[in-house]
Amino acid sequence: MVEEVIDEQFLRINRAANLMNLTALEKKHLPHISIPVEVAAREPFNIEVEVGGMLAHPNEPGHHIQWIELYVEDVFLARIDLTPQLTEPKTVFTIRLDNVGSVKLRAVSRCNLHGLWEVSGTVSVLPPGTSVVHDNKFACLTCGQMTFVEGDNPETCWFCGEHEAENFSGC
Ligand SMILES: [Fe+2]
Repeated sequence: MVEEVIDEQFLRINRAANLMNLTALEKKHLPHISIPVEVAAREPFNIEVEVGGMLAHPNEPGHHIQWIELYVEDVFLARIDLTPQLTEPKTVFTIRLDNVGSVKLRAVSRCNLHGLWEVSGTVSVLPPGTSVVHDNKFACLTCGQMTFVEGDNPETCWFCGEHEAENFSGC
């Protein structure tokens, strides 16, 4: 009789145990997302999503990121399907939000060997027509900290990635 072994990682959505002290496994799998702090309702804006930006994830047929999905609250919004070797697990979703208030966004990625990984965070949606100044300040949904972007976008958050925190100018 063959005993069936089920990998616990596939029975749950994996999340960071401690955002400010990520393990190597977490750094390889948690989606890293940058969103504007504020947006105006009904106006499109970009969300950058990347897996493995903090620590490169393997990208080969036997081990790779299969897809990345984006949700607002529990509602599915978008998905990118990936193949190994010739694509990278990163993309930009352009979305709009219609309801004013604090809105929760969630990104979920799936590794064929290590299962589902999720980060979540909030964006403040202001009334339609509000003039929103995108001042290059973005919230990192992986560590929950603000990432100040000056010039070229950093590949990773200064708090949970490789950039130096002292360069951060504050919220
Ligand atoms: Fe993996």
